[in-house]
Amino acid sequence: MVLNKQKLQAVLSVEGKNTEFPFGLHIFESVASTNKTLWELLAQKPGSRCVVIAAEQTAGRGQWGRQWVSRQDGLYLSFGFAPQLDINSGYQLTLATAWGIAEQLRKYGVDVEIKWPNDLVLDGRKLGGILTETKVSAGKITQAVIGVGINWKNPVPSTGINLYSWNNRGNPTQISCLEKLAGIVLLGIDSGIQCLEREGVNILLSRYIKLLSNMGEQVHVNGDFSGTVVGVTATGNLHVRSSASDTLSVAPASIYLQPGTISLGYRKYKD
Ligand code: BTN
Repeated sequence: MVLNKQKLQAVLSVEGKNTEFPFGLHIFESVASTNKTLWELLAQKPGSRCVVIAAEQTAGRGQWGRQWVSRQDGLYLSFGFAPQLDINSGYQLTLATAWGIAEQLRKYGVDVEIKWPNDLVLDGRKLGGILTETKVSAGKITQAVIGVGINWKNPVPSTGINLYSWNNRGNPTQISCLEKLAGIVLLGIDSGIQCLEREGVNILLSRYIKLLSNMGEQVHVNGDFSGTVVGVTATGNLHVRSSASDTLSVAPASIYLQPGTISLGYRKYKD
């Protein structure tokens, strides 16, 4: 189903309390990847702010080079802008987006949590994910495309969940259509980026970890290190504190895992 542009604009002006969202909005029936289409648009108009939404993607991109299966009735959205961030701070855009969307969805009755680093989870299963791509010039991130995929009514694997069926399983939310979901996601991206730009990464991280489902989780790395998740750093690394109580232990007191180096898995779903 192709999203209705006027309906989305109405959602943004009502839910965004008439906040100005100056961006070009491009809606398609089918594209290879909304991130890819957005890069093509930005190549014609560098520095502009754009949103691309598609009803389906034929070559959706996931994290770590994976494919993001993108059948009809899901939300496939990309937002492009010029952040002017330090080259080492690129991952903060993903953290900010994950926090902003989760926080926004929670205001509408969806108890979303974050699974490190970039997954939105609901009842322990994957509701959506974020893929940020950046361009660098002279040591600065000059252009970013933040891609968000959220399961609305589309079919999902056993580790996934879609919002529409969660709604119908006795969890009524105030999200009644794809346009409303898209509007809430855009407000979430905007509030996450504003938090990062105006309040700084430390405030952002303190909010992010409040919604992080992995806090306190036991993690085992390569069979020779066990510890507890205690936080996330400004570069997106997972901070794991050693469980070894023995002061003579050769294990480091803490380790910092880069995104993509371990997968924390999903909680088993309870029906
Ligand atoms: C993940 O692997 O968890 C991230 C998935 C991100 C998917 C979205 S869908 C919209 C945008 N376009 C893409 O090709 N990928 C992102």
